[in-house]
Amino acid sequence: MNWGVLSRFRRYVEASEGEISVEGGASRHGDEFVFPIEHTVTDGAVLGFSGSVHFRAHGGLLDLAIRNPRISWQVGEMGMVDVAARGMTRTDFAIVTRVEHVDSHSMTVRTKLTLEGVHLLGNVYPKDLELDPIRILSGNPPAEIR
Ligand code: HEM
Repeated sequence: MNWGVLSRFRRYVEASEGEISVEGGASRHGDEFVFPIEHTVTDGAVLGFSGSVHFRAHGGLLDLAIRNPRISWQVGEMGMVDVAARGMTRTDFAIVTRVEHVDSHSMTVRTKLTLEGVHLLGNVYPKDLELDPIRILSGNPPAEIR
């Protein structure tokens, strides 16, 4: 899964002399973080990914990790992106609003911020804010993605 989360949040953290780091198998390719697919939790309705991205700024007052994102497709609805953000507790972070593109190699979906996501990002952004698109690539190891 390739996802930049929210470009203006990345820019804010970096402009605040903070740092964005990746761990646990995730990597960064320009504006996107790449979370490898987690085969153990993948079935038709749930796609799980591993790795984490850690945002830190203001001497640690801003300290947010987004770990092991997962997309659950829901019957009659588009889907939910949840992440492990605080310890092991999973939080519904974004709602999938539409599939923007799909071909045999990849799928791009648009997402918007949930209320829980608003809280995680410091209660600054409005609920339903559009986030960066998520790209899901089939089977490619991260090195071949770009
Ligand atoms: C010492 C603590 C903090 C200071 C001094 C601080 C300062 C600021 C300032 C000056 C802005 C406006 C930046 C701009 O307009 O470019 C801002 C925006 C913001 N702050 Fe903080 N902040 C602090 C802590 C936090 C924390 C703990 C969070 C939680 C995640 C947070 C999340 C945000 C967000 C999401 C924005 C909006 C960025 C955007 O324009 O997209 N901040 N902060």
